[in-house]
Amino acid sequence: MSGGDKLEFEIRPNPQPVAAAEREALLSNPGFGRIFTDHMVTIRYVEGKGWYDARVEARAPIAMDPASAVLHYAQVIFEGLKAYHAADGGVTLFRPEANAARFVESARRMAMPPLPKQAFLDSLRHLIEIDRAWLPTTEESSLYLRPFMFANEVFLGVRPAHEYLFLLIASPVGSYFAKGVQPVTVWVSPTYTRAAPGGTGAAKCGGNYAASLAAQAEAIEHDCDQVVFLDAVQRRYVDELGGMNIFFVYDDGSLVTPPLGGTILPGITRDALITLARQQGRTVVERPVAFDEWRADAASGRLREVFACGTAAVITPIGRVRYPDGEFTIADGTPGEITTGLRQTLVDIQRGRIEDVNGWIHRIP
Ligand code: PLP
Ligand code: COI
Repeated sequence: MSGGDKLEFEIRPNPQPVAAAEREALLSNPGFGRIFTDHMVTIRYVEGKGWYDARVEARAPIAMDPASAVLHYAQVIFEGLKAYHAADGGVTLFRPEANAARFVESARRMAMPPLPKQAFLDSLRHLIEIDRAWLPTTEESSLYLRPFMFANEVFLGVRPAHEYLFLLIASPVGSYFAKGVQPVTVWVSPTYTRAAPGGTGAAKCGGNYAASLAAQAEAIEHDCDQVVFLDAVQRRYVDELGGMNIFFVYDDGSLVTPPLGGTILPGITRDALITLARQQGRTVVERPVAFDEWRADAASGRLREVFACGTAAVITPIGRVRYPDGEFTIADGTPGEITTGLRQTLVDIQRGRIEDVNGWIHRIP
């Protein structure tokens, strides 16, 4: 199949699913990204033939040739979204069409073939239906869905591969940060940047995360939870965190977030929060924020709250900022009212507890 044709999925249930009692034990304390459901989706692509052989099957290791292109030149992209246990007992997804669209954009940047959005959405539905028993029901937990695709051609020449494999796996998760919804401390790296203009910063490609790990290790060495990257040209403006976007909240109730310009990931949570805050009557401005300005506004008290946001992190308050020459706190370092309120609104929409006026919720029947 190619283009917009609909892919048929072959469903092959796992003959040896995890026993119910063991599954319940795993679900009682899932952590983040440690445990996985019984099934996965696979779809293959070959140039000239297009996407084919869509399957839901038992989750299992995949055999790869040592010359598989991804192992050498890193053509790999991914997405991350969550299925939620809704107030009425159903299952909700939050803006999955936006993840499907970003997956297409990431593919384009990495010279990979776009997966049709309908195939992306159908794969989510099939996996959730077959692994529904793995959906945790407690407030801070959800089923994290990880679609990804990589170059699987056996070839060492440097050019876009001609064969790809798309997979979707699912992982029941709790809070991303081990300490739960507590303010985190961030490290402003003097050493590393994440993405340069013209680079891959706006794509959700594996290489961006590989490149962030040394910076994250530097953050941990300084007793911080996450790294904050400054722009790669002037080393002055705040871009984003290793795996989250960032918002600043001022004493007049307005919000500021760095603009999308190719070097940060266009977060779906970020986009939703801009809309939600504006619907609450707040001013939201997308503009560059210099690190010096951040520090000065925190010192003067004009800056009241700062938070990180993303699928994994939801909304996580930033309480303290550390950099090579010192550190400062945001207000008294505790979660701010606007941060907490936006988080509650977002989570209530995601779980179907309040009206979804923006049409963001996608129900799995
Ligand atoms: N920035 C980076 C680098 C990320 O990895 C993520 C997580 O996906 C985000 C921002 C937030 O994006 P989203 O809100 O779409 O999850
Ligand atoms: C997500 O929020 O989905 C991400 O990809 C972030 C990653 C740090 C888990």
